[in-house]
Amino acid sequence: MTRKFFVGGNWKMNGDKKSLGDLINTMNGAKVDPNVEVVCGAPAIYLDFARSKLDHKFGIAAQNCYKVAKGAFTGEISPAMIKDCGVHWVILGHSERRHVFGESDELIGQKTAHALENGLGVIACIGEKLDEREGGITEKVVFAQTKVIADNVKDWSKVVLAYEPVWAIGTGKTASPQQAQEVHHKLREWMKKNVSEAVASSVRIIYGGSVTGGTCKELGSQADVDGFLVGGASLKPEFIEIINAKQ
Ligand code: 13P
Repeated sequence: MTRKFFVGGNWKMNGDKKSLGDLINTMNGAKVDPNVEVVCGAPAIYLDFARSKLDHKFGIAAQNCYKVAKGAFTGEISPAMIKDCGVHWVILGHSERRHVFGESDELIGQKTAHALENGLGVIACIGEKLDEREGGITEKVVFAQTKVIADNVKDWSKVVLAYEPVWAIGTGKTASPQQAQEVHHKLREWMKKNVSEAVASSVRIIYGGSVTGGTCKELGSQADVDGFLVGGASLKPEFIEIINAKQ
């Protein structure tokens, strides 16, 4: 089973029209591996701007959405609005949504179901905290998070699973290629047992957490690492190197 390599950029709450415009110009002019699917997560207010400027060979993702189509939910955005901006992906369950904004597994599951039902692709994030890794419960945590997502997915072709250990996000402490491979392999085994063999072999499991131009090649060469979700480095020209990690 060949899984198309997937490189997501998560711009988080960074940039302005000037700096993101410069980044977009760099991306539009870069030579990128045509065998890689690239999707950039833009701040909600810049989705339209990013979609109008970024070459259409690159996808765009929202960084969040709500669980219903419309209504009195001040500050929220819906999958329908995201699609109305020509955007076809959303990042859900990011650790910053979970731990800074207190999103529960249940809410993330509901958002996942609603986004998929409304035609968005979902980059679904999971990952353990440092104390959980040190306590030896990494598997337990990521399996529980994955189960809630899986319970809300009917069509896995629209889902990319992003394993992002919280201790590796924005810390410069990348998981070693072996650590990433071990968890990705276990997640695939979990999928085999709890979803289906076909989904286990076709779903892309990407790694996120301090990925850089320096670490991407070895991480990307692991059997079960099908790409990356990149934060800080996705705002720099270095992102091109990461897209081209397999070349
Ligand atoms: P960093 O690459 O900055 O560690 O962020 C990773 C991340 O959270 C991507 O979603």
